[in-house]
Amino acid sequence: MKKVISGILVLTFLLSGLIFAQNKYVGVKTCAPCHKGEKKGAIMEKWEKSKHAQAYQTLLTDAAKNIAKEKGLKKPAHESPECLECHVTAAKADAKLLDKNFKKEDGVGCETCHGAGSAYKSMAIMKDKKKAIENGLTAYADEKAIEAHCKTCHNEKSPTYKEFKFKEAWAQIVHKAVR
Ligand code: HEC
Ligand code: HEC
Ligand code: HEC
Ligand code: HEC
Repeated sequence: MKKVISGILVLTFLLSGLIFAQNKYVGVKTCAPCHKGEKKGAIMEKWEKSKHAQAYQTLLTDAAKNIAKEKGLKKPAHESPECLECHVTAAKADAKLLDKNFKKEDGVGCETCHGAGSAYKSMAIMKDKKKAIENGLTAYADEKAIEAHCKTCHNEKSPTYKEFKFKEAWAQIVHKAVR
């Protein structure tokens, strides 16, 4: 009996560990202070000018409304999971994992590609790439891995799909930190 109880305790401990270890999405506003300005590579500014920053607003346009209607969706585009899955960060995440600074209006934000940031966003961890990855920063082994991630959205499931040429597309949004 003792063994069963301690077994259950261990299991509960492990499960709660899994639940608490889930990182939260903290929103682009949280990343901005450390990644904006020419001296830091103007990553934030570059993203703000990209279409990714507009991806949610796009769902409010007449074009989007028409697509949603043609598809017979019950809700408007900006409320339909069928559209949000590629037009905002963390569309499928539990609401509990969205931090107060997270805004779906930011569209395809930093954490769409870099992973939920609550655990890696502190300076001490960010400075150390290995630690950052241990704390949820997405690691890409090579360009193939980056391309594969892009194609989770840039694919034929997109109602307006245009052929995705990785090299050209990446050149449009590539960003580098100045160290
Ligand atoms: C407290 C400041 C700070 C915050 C907040 C912050 N970062 Fe960073 N980040 C850094 C520093 C410092 C580096 C190391 C490189 C550099 O000097 O720019 C870095 C590096 C990175 C890297 C490159 C890792 C590597 O070495 O390849 C990525 C990607 C990144 N940050 C994404 C983010 C994202 C996404 C957020 C928001 C969720 C964020 N950062 C929030 C300071 C910060
Ligand atoms: C979560 C889904 C998602 C991921 C992942 C994603 N994108 Fe996008 N991307 C979009 C959406 C949605 C748009 C259209 C935004 C709009 O026009 O409102 C877009 C637009 C673009 C555009 C502008 C294209 C145009 O014709 O206007 C480029 C370039 C682009 N993405 C490059 C990339 C690259 C490179 C990657 C991988 C590093 C990537 N994207 C990953 C969803 C995504
Ligand atoms: C599989 C991912 C995905 C889904 C699902 C998706 N989109 Fe998109 N959407 C994209 C990407 C990527 C782009 C950028 C252009 C392209 O390649 O389609 C885009 C662009 C758009 C554009 C701009 C078109 C243009 O030519 O610039 C509109 C409007 C749009 N989407 C509406 C919708 C609506 C409405 C839905 C839901 C019915 C939806 N999307 C679902 C990925 C997606
Ligand atoms: C569409 C996907 C996408 C979005 C959105 C995105 N990034 Fe990145 N970012 C990448 C990829 C891919 C790399 C290259 C990673 C690698 O080579 O391992 C990268 C690299 C970086 C680096 C490291 C650059 C270097 O010098 O090595 C930083 C810092 C960074 N991103 C921060 C951000 C911040 C901050 C935002 C939001 C304002 C953001 N990124 C938005 C995909 C994205």
